Amino acid sequence: MINNSTYRLYGRTKGRKNKNVNEKFLQIKLKNIDNKKYNIIDVGSGFGESTVKLAKQDKNKIVICCDKYIDGLNNVFKKSQIDSLENIYIFQGNVHKMLDECCKENSISEVWILFPDPWPKKRHYKRRLIDQNFFTKIKKYLKYGATINLATDSKSYIFQILRTIYNVKKDFAWLNQSKSEWDYDSEILPETKYYKKALKNGLNPFYIKLKKL
Ligand SMILES: C[S@@+](CC[C@H](N)C(=O)[O-])C[C@H]1O[C@@H](n2cnc3c(N)ncnc32)[C@H](O)[C@@H]1O
Repeated sequence: MINNSTYRLYGRTKGRKNKNVNEKFLQIKLKNIDNKKYNIIDVGSGFGESTVKLAKQDKNKIVICCDKYIDGLNNVFKKSQIDSLENIYIFQGNVHKMLDECCKENSISEVWILFPDPWPKKRHYKRRLIDQNFFTKIKKYLKYGATINLATDSKSYIFQILRTIYNVKKDFAWLNQSKSEWDYDSEILPETKYYKKALKNGLNPFYIKLKKL
């Protein structure tokens, strides 16, 4: 049975200083995904640097950002107004809920998951977003040839993701398998808050690109 606890998310919903929750982002709230369009989902969009970059790259493509973090979602809304980006929609909450409630099968062309919460303690690994269950779920919503872009700076998460990719190799091809392509190239990829944090901490983010077969 699906209830609210099915979609429970750990972590912050609003910033420490944000006492008044002014959900401006609701003005561009996602209702349903139109599967005739080229749809990109930015999962765990944080402050939305990636959403805005992707939306600016091609205004014919729809970018849906999905997170529970209100300050970040309001930031995306603000930037979309300043830059007149009409191709951004927002879903507040768990990506599993978004898929269940707003998406049809074969409707998504690209997925971005940049620096998902690493949950470094072993007893919290089960909270991690990217696991076999995630791939099994998202598979049916992806169009043929759709890509999934992942990046993390957590070694244990990289190993978990690689093991999972091996387990789902029947359905997904790993496109950037050579060592030189694993680096997070900030000339091309979005410089998000957590990308900058990784660099500041001397970490080397690992980038993975997959294609649905
Ligand atoms: C570490 S932050 C990274 C933010 C941003 N991508 C960046 O690189 O700066 C991870 C974000 O993922 C969100 N998140 C975690 N699990 C999620 C889920 N199942 N669905 C949607 N968002 C999720 C969190 O709320 C958080 O804002």
